[in-house]
Amino acid sequence: MLDPGPLLPPPSGLLAELTHRCPLGCPYCSNPLALEPKSVELDTLAWVRVMHEASALGVLHVHLSGGEPAARRDLEEIVRAASGAGLYTNLITSGIGLTPVRLDALKEAGLDHIQISVQDAEQGSADRIAGYAGAFRRKQKLAADVVARCFPLTVNAVIHRANIGRVADIVELALEMGAGRIEIAHAQYYGWALKNRAALMPSRAQVEVAVAEVERLRAVHRGRIVIDSVAPDYHARYPKPCMGGWGRRSLNVTPAGRALPCHAAESIPGLDFWSVAEHSLEDIWRHSPAFNAFRGEAWMREPCRSCERRGQDFGGCRCQAFLLTGDARAADPVCHLSPNHERVAALAAVGEDEPYLHRA
Ligand code: SF4
Ligand code: FES
Repeated sequence: MLDPGPLLPPPSGLLAELTHRCPLGCPYCSNPLALEPKSVELDTLAWVRVMHEASALGVLHVHLSGGEPAARRDLEEIVRAASGAGLYTNLITSGIGLTPVRLDALKEAGLDHIQISVQDAEQGSADRIAGYAGAFRRKQKLAADVVARCFPLTVNAVIHRANIGRVADIVELALEMGAGRIEIAHAQYYGWALKNRAALMPSRAQVEVAVAEVERLRAVHRGRIVIDSVAPDYHARYPKPCMGGWGRRSLNVTPAGRALPCHAAESIPGLDFWSVAEHSLEDIWRHSPAFNAFRGEAWMREPCRSCERRGQDFGGCRCQAFLLTGDARAADPVCHLSPNHERVAALAAVGEDEPYLHRA
């Protein structure tokens, strides 16, 4: 069995996908096409154990995500366990399903931070994108309840063809909601989002305006709100260092308990994912074949193998390399040095005002 040796640093983050159940139907959802049903979800005790194992391994912060984590009645117990184990706890929510009573219980359980997703700054468009009438107003109400309880609040907005012209309005909305931070994340084309790629894809001109707009907004709002952004990588020259490098910084646990190096890793065939039901988190982090598959540089092909940027971007995203080239060891074709880059350039040019396929 592979052993990366004593110098392997621990992960700093754990993404706990507590459930795939979700009231919204966002067309850019990066969860897999086949969602894990409630019947296979880890039970409370298993998640409590995972939180303690994460802390012992060296994890600092846990992101409680989904789907909608509030769909789990035991969310408060899981938060209590994570907080008790010394983890910084961040709840990532659609805003649907969290009542003031539950917020009080989460506060009492030790929850540190809340992140609410928004779909747009205009109510009609936001509800249309979410596939849920009334979602916009409910998120605003929840934000007020969150701020009233002194939780730090981050707003997360996925940017795509339908809302890319309203980045400034979305930042303004986040300020009105009381957020101290906003994540402007351009859509990534994994899982369900891949089905909607053409409908989500902005034009190059839209992307250039939006990227410049984010820089302007950072200057305008400095000291009021932190603006983080995830680049629209189909339009980039170099790829993102996905996950900070495969198996280097964080791990995901799916609702059923499979531990993944990234949320889309199961799209790469042939990888052996271990379950937290059968292995400790430390054993998985150090020895799981899936985590070791793309550590280091020995797996790289040219042009990455001899590229001076390989220690910065790690060859880009393994899932994207597989999805677009059929070879998970290839350079991410977002990179202009990739022999497959033309395919990305062609896909980046096919954005159309098509109707979305919402998740059922
Ligand atoms: Fe990154 Fe590989 Fe492109 Fe170099 S060739 S910039 S390592 S993706
Ligand atoms: Fe899997 Fe990028 S999403 S490595």
